[in-house]
Amino acid sequence: MPTITINGRKCDFSPGQTILQVANANTVEIPQYCYHEGLSIVASCRICLVECHAPNPKTGAIEPFMGGKLLPSCQQTAMDGMVVYSDSPKAVANQKSVMEYLLINHPLDCPVCDQSGECFLQDYSYEYGRGVSRFEEQKVKQPKKDIGPHVYLYSDRCIMCTRCVRFTREVSGTSELMVLGRGNKEEIDIFPGVPIANELSANVIDLCPVGALLDKDFLFAQRVWFLKETPSIDPITASGDNITIHHNEGKVYRIKPRINMQVNKHWITDEVRYGWKFVHSEDRLRSPLRKQFGVHVECDYTKAYDDAIDGLRRALGNYKRIALLVSPMLTCEEAYLLGTFIRKLDPNAIIGIGPVPMIGQDKVFPAGMKEDHPKAFKMYAEKAPNARGVKRILTGMFGEGQIYSYDAFLRKLGLGTGSSDIGAVVVTGNYPKDWTSNDLVTSLSGKFTVLIDTLHNPLVDRADIVIPGATFAEKAGTFENAKNILQAFEQAIPLIEMAKSEGQIALDLLAVLAGKDAPIDKQVSLVVETTPGQVAAGFQITTPYAEAFNAAKVREQMAAAFPSLNALATNVSMPALPVAQEADMQVIDL
Ligand code: SF4
Ligand code: FES
Repeated sequence: MPTITINGRKCDFSPGQTILQVANANTVEIPQYCYHEGLSIVASCRICLVECHAPNPKTGAIEPFMGGKLLPSCQQTAMDGMVVYSDSPKAVANQKSVMEYLLINHPLDCPVCDQSGECFLQDYSYEYGRGVSRFEEQKVKQPKKDIGPHVYLYSDRCIMCTRCVRFTREVSGTSELMVLGRGNKEEIDIFPGVPIANELSANVIDLCPVGALLDKDFLFAQRVWFLKETPSIDPITASGDNITIHHNEGKVYRIKPRINMQVNKHWITDEVRYGWKFVHSEDRLRSPLRKQFGVHVECDYTKAYDDAIDGLRRALGNYKRIALLVSPMLTCEEAYLLGTFIRKLDPNAIIGIGPVPMIGQDKVFPAGMKEDHPKAFKMYAEKAPNARGVKRILTGMFGEGQIYSYDAFLRKLGLGTGSSDIGAVVVTGNYPKDWTSNDLVTSLSGKFTVLIDTLHNPLVDRADIVIPGATFAEKAGTFENAKNILQAFEQAIPLIEMAKSEGQIALDLLAVLAGKDAPIDKQVSLVVETTPGQVAAGFQITTPYAEAFNAAKVREQMAAAFPSLNALATNVSMPALPVAQEADMQVIDL
């Protein structure tokens, strides 16, 4: 394998890689602004210039390359035997000059800038800049602009790296952004009357290395150094985009993409980025409810579980069947545990999969690019994260042909015929908005109904027992995306009030079914070790008598119980653990 030496470190590389790519892959730090792995290379910011020496093809002696002038490491391909310095006096002098030039018109408003704490200009200023400014003239001031539904432009912080412009040309294919003017009057802008409003628009906020493009939704919401990051998976569409949940003190503040070249590459859609709001909705179900004299009253879990199991058993006692509707918003582990519970109660139960919302058509960005092109990004019309996973689990448990689609399930409930042999139904929801239909509510009429859901909806009024479920941010589990890739995610924040993950609810119900006389309403803190795919530091309402939900353990159990589900033990990709950041300056305890 060819090798290159960067700042004294020998690195292997593949032919075609640039010096900067080799350095990044080997964690050798070279400053960079305009370079981004997912965009074309323009070599315009000039901070990555390095001094290169290469072997003379005739003599083999190491000599200055290209006459010894500084070269952009983001553009210069690596050559076997090359010796590169980004820390030589010449390279360092360039870094200082570039930093001084970039800061000439910068407002230096870090204390009020949202990017502060994750700003390349701030970091490089500290590492490669000068301590003082020699600029005494008036700075160019540019107005702040509202350039789209999600994006504010603070032009005077811009360093003209053009990442954002290239993104709209090369990835979204919508070209809303442009460079206007020349010299120190140069600025980023939209075309008159054409906001940046494509479905991927907010990726430019992540791309901007400084605080010039800011997220309206996150504006002044939280200082970034307070945020904790938990790797997760897109919870609302079939794409399985890899995301990171940024949260603090039990509240989600934003969602950012995680790189996965197989799935979402570097990007996410705006619908995934802003699709988490239901986690903190006022409409969340927060306590178990049971019907008493026709009206709902809040109750503890002991009563809710006892009543639920009594109602289901009553239906069986009346020679009726029971049914389970598993939502495609639930995880594989939850589908398995709910299926196990129903199977224990009634081996002939009817099992259906909840509605899979479809909105519009699949879209490929940029428009016209083939879906399998390495640069293409696909947005799925299917708005459920785990329809395939739920089907895989239930089919593995109950057999091919035993799982009903939503429409077939409604027919089994008697929709259209008015007759059904089903006497009781367990329904799960967990959709980000009202998902129920008149058909479902009507077909449940006269049947004992247990609803496990997260948001208020018309079915809540209809159900006999309501149990509050957990959103994706409050639990761990596995989703299977549209490409049949199984991906695990972790719990980011503690559960809201009395809510429980559907997996824990199923385990509790199994414990009650097994006759374990338990104080199920008791709240116990449960901190599971921080292994990937497992609860990071969460709390569940559980009981010493029911087993605590552990996603990794459930995956092992289902693979052992059903050989057809072996993929859950062998093929689940785990989120990479966040890299611990070490301060390179003295930290003072306050
Ligand atoms: S707005 Fe940000 S991403 Fe766009 S050119 Fe300026 S610094 Fe670069
Ligand atoms: S990163 Fe190389 S010139 Fe900008």
